[in-house]
Amino acid sequence: MTAIDIGTARRLPPGPVGALQIAKHVRALRGNGPGLFEAMRQSYGDTVRLPLGLMTATLVYHPDGIKHVLLDNNANYVRGIGYERFKIFMGNGLLTTDGEAWRVRRRVVNPLFHRDAIAAMVDAMVSSTAAVLDGWHRRERAGFTGDVIPAMMRITLDALGRTLFDTGLDGDAERVGPAMDTAIEAIVHRGRVPELLPAWLPFPSTLRTVRARKTLYDMVGRIIEAHRGGAHADRPDLVNLLLATDRTDADVRDEMMTVLMAGHETAGTGLAWALWELADAPEVQDRMADEARRVFGGRDPAAADVPGLTYTRMVLDEALRLHPPIWVYPRATVAADDIAGWHVPAGECVFLSPYVTHRHPDLWAAPYRFDPERFTEAAKQDRPKYSYFPFGGGQRKCVGEMMAVTQMCLTLAMLVSRFRIRRVPGSTVTLRTAASLRPAHGIELRIVPRDS
Ligand code: HEM
Repeated sequence: MTAIDIGTARRLPPGPVGALQIAKHVRALRGNGPGLFEAMRQSYGDTVRLPLGLMTATLVYHPDGIKHVLLDNNANYVRGIGYERFKIFMGNGLLTTDGEAWRVRRRVVNPLFHRDAIAAMVDAMVSSTAAVLDGWHRRERAGFTGDVIPAMMRITLDALGRTLFDTGLDGDAERVGPAMDTAIEAIVHRGRVPELLPAWLPFPSTLRTVRARKTLYDMVGRIIEAHRGGAHADRPDLVNLLLATDRTDADVRDEMMTVLMAGHETAGTGLAWALWELADAPEVQDRMADEARRVFGGRDPAAADVPGLTYTRMVLDEALRLHPPIWVYPRATVAADDIAGWHVPAGECVFLSPYVTHRHPDLWAAPYRFDPERFTEAAKQDRPKYSYFPFGGGQRKCVGEMMAVTQMCLTLAMLVSRFRIRRVPGSTVTLRTAASLRPAHGIELRIVPRDS
């Protein structure tokens, strides 16, 4: 149903109305947010006004609207209330700030994420991957059966620690994993009672959040201390870069927490989803394995090999299309705006959802089918730019995109060249609402050595 903004007499986007409808959608958001957002597009179209109890959000699904928000009129969009809960863990870091505070932060870290800096990270990415794969191989060639998410997180956590903090984090994975799970649960506002009350009230979920934050803060604090003590002198890592700018320890901690949370969780989840799709596509695995053997030529992978992994990159892009780890992200309007002909009042929340746009039937033929051929150079040219945006866009585009893509291509190529991935009969995945696209009960797979 379409309504009018009384203040401006402009047309508001269509969407559900009425207390019963709202209660139903708040409940749905607590369960499976990606499913709710997709159902909204199917019911109301490309721009939807969704009341969610205390706030109303405009959902923008069409590439033209997304481009308007991220690029053409981005000066009118700030992080807003949707990013408030990220601050529980990330404070005022690169992801959560706006304006000049953001610009200064971005300028400081940019050099760490340039092509040459990333090439220098490849050895660490390869050994973090090899440590997990060797572990699978050693089990008397039995491989591995179970949830692959913790193993993929172990790789991305360790690699991120070595490359950005000059500190291997493999040994921390067992404590960091559950703390990170609690964090990504806590970040999304689902209208639950504890989320609406002061943070000092001792609800069990609040206490869990506080404990998780302490675990992560302790780890990051130890790394800062070691750097301040000179243990990593002259290393060109993020911590030294930040300490050189005379920031307080709390500032440095916020930035480290930001890259830790924005970087390892996303890439780990993305890898696990890619394995899930590959398990159902043995011919794609074989083609990747051939490519890996040809490109690596029996040596350890090196930076110069990465551009040669063209098919692996297509597979990764397609996995991130169907399963973008950041399935939704928010903005807030500064002044009122028109998006795709619909009015959005000032100060309201706007959500962009790669998950829904990446499955839009007007943009993607057979959108639910896994098909890496969608990402040949020719096929990419034929689509509107913002029909695919797993790393965001405009000036706030993911600073770690090249790092993540390099890590994920290397890990997938190494894994598939040594193992076959199979589904476990009867195992399925069910989505749940969290800050990233996580299934409720993990991603269970069977990983078998190719030479067994
Ligand atoms: C598959 C992996 C990844 C995905 C899908 C992903 C996705 C995204 C998205 C969608 C945004 C934009 C959010 C917005 O505009 O509101 C973003 C921003 C960001 N990402 Fe990533 N990311 C990934 C990996 C990484 C890595 C490896 C790092 C760092 C090590 C990283 C650090 C950041 C930071 C710091 C921002 C904020 C940038 C800014 O606002 O200037 N991300 N990411």
